[in-house]
Amino acid sequence: MHPLIKEVLLTKEKIDLRTSEVAKEVTEHYLKEGVEDEPIVLVGFLKGCVPFMGKFLENFNLNCQTEYMLISSYGSGTKSSGKPEILLDLRIPIENRHILIVEDIIDTGITLDFMVNYFKMQNPKSIKIITMLDKSKSHKVDIKADWKCFDVGNEFLVGMGLDVNERFRNLPYIGVVDVEKLATWKW
Ligand code: PRP
Repeated sequence: MHPLIKEVLLTKEKIDLRTSEVAKEVTEHYLKEGVEDEPIVLVGFLKGCVPFMGKFLENFNLNCQTEYMLISSYGSGTKSSGKPEILLDLRIPIENRHILIVEDIIDTGITLDFMVNYFKMQNPKSIKIITMLDKSKSHKVDIKADWKCFDVGNEFLVGMGLDVNERFRNLPYIGVVDVEKLATWKW
C-alpha cells in the first residue's frame, strides 16, 4: 500500500457486493415505473465518476445510454470553492428523458444541488441520484441521493475515482489519506 494511505476503508469486495445490491434496487425501481423501453440517461460527472460508473454498468442491465459532463467544484485544492462550473456539457436534449446521475461521492452536496437544478430547467421526465459514497454529515445544502452504497465520515478518501493531486483514482478500494504525511509530501 502507498505510504500516504493509512487505512483501507472499503475493500474492492465490499464495493462490488454493495454495488450489485444497489443496482438491483435501481433496476426494480425503473421496472416498477415501466420505463424499460426508453433508454435511461445515465449521467456521470468527470473525472471522479469513471470507476464507479463502470462498476455500476456491469450490474445494470436495463436499456440505457451513458453521458458524461465535466464539472469542477474543487479546482486543484481540497476544499469546495462552492461554485461548480460546467466545463463540458451534455450534447443531447434531455427533455422528457429519465436521468440517473451516477456520482462517486457527495460531500457538501453543492455540485449535485447545482446540477439537479440545471437539469430541472430542461424538463426531464425524472431525475434520480445514485452515489457510491455519501458524506452525509458534511452536506451544506439539502440534497439526498435516492440510492447510496456507503455512508462515510469526514476522512480524506481516495481510490475508485477519488483523488489527491490527481493521484490514486485507479485504486480499486477506498483508502484513507494520512493527512499528516500529506502536509509535507514531495510528489
Ligand atoms: C468531486 C466529486 C463530486 C464532487 C462532490 O468532484 O466527484 O462530483 O466533488 O463534492 P460536493 O458534494 O462538495 O460538491 P471534483 O470537483 O473534485 O472533480 P473530479 O471528479 O474531477 O475529482
